[in-house]
Amino acid sequence: MTQHPQTAPGDVGRTYDAFAEAGTADALGGNIHVGYWADGSGSGIPVDEATDRLTDLVADRLAPEHGTHLLDVGCGNGVPALRIAASRGVRVTGVTVSAQQVREASARARDHRVGGRTAFLLADAVDLPFEDASFDGAWAIESLLHIGDRTAALAELHRVVRPGGRLVVADLCLRRPFTGVDRELLDGMLGMYEIASISTPEEHRTHLARSGWRLGELADIGEQVRPSYGHAAAAFREIAASPDAPAAERLTEAAELMTAFGEHPDTGYALITAHRT
Ligand SMILES: C[S@@+](CC[C@H](N)C(=O)[O-])C[C@H]1O[C@@H](n2cnc3c(N)ncnc32)[C@H](O)[C@@H]1O
Repeated sequence: MTQHPQTAPGDVGRTYDAFAEAGTADALGGNIHVGYWADGSGSGIPVDEATDRLTDLVADRLAPEHGTHLLDVGCGNGVPALRIAASRGVRVTGVTVSAQQVREASARARDHRVGGRTAFLLADAVDLPFEDASFDGAWAIESLLHIGDRTAALAELHRVVRPGGRLVVADLCLRRPFTGVDRELLDGMLGMYEIASISTPEEHRTHLARSGWRLGELADIGEQVRPSYGHAAAAFREIAASPDAPAAERLTEAAELMTAFGEHPDTGYALITAHRT
């Protein structure tokens, strides 16, 4: 696995805060994850709808019963948690390592009709402040890639989800290990976005198995999410072009990396369903 040595929860939180301060919070419709276009075209539906569709794919795989309690690991601005709480009639607790995101998600919840069924707090996925078997299920959308010891994080999720519960992971993947110029591109991505590593499907399987999860399904939906990189890069460039843009240079560099990464044929996207044994 390719590993970025300096990634730590505090650094990750500060990176998200810096991107939010630069005005990127709504670049993907409030969600901080890729969009899903069934035909892979990137057109036909706007990016905010496409990113909500990815959330809906995660919810479909969780298939939670009404009234159950789910954990959102790396909850971002709370948009996915509020959407799933509303559409599935569940309670959701979200954790993030960004204090700014806790404030943003809590503010969104106050204005949302199902906000009372959600709670957001600052916590590290590898050391969760919850009792064993506290949750009926959990999901992690694009958060595990920030965590160096992925097996430890998955083991912690295994601890807090009750036996029989589900975990759904949506995360970037590499269809093969990157070397040479590909590796340089990958290193640029890891450094820019405080990513610890991007796993191959095989590595995802290994981390799950080592932490006690039984794999149900692992689908590579890389072609359906690929247009997201172009959309996000265009949004970053637009923000960078405004006369008073803070961090314009960094945003332009981030956009260039994202474009190159999105165009690489061996970048995939894993949508995983696992079961708590
Ligand atoms: C790409 S954002 C995804 C946000 C959200 N899941 C979404 O889809 O909109 C990654 C999220 O993972 C969180 N994160 C990263 N490392 C974490 C850790 N060790 N523990 C908890 N959350 C973490 C970040 O704070 C951020 O909220």
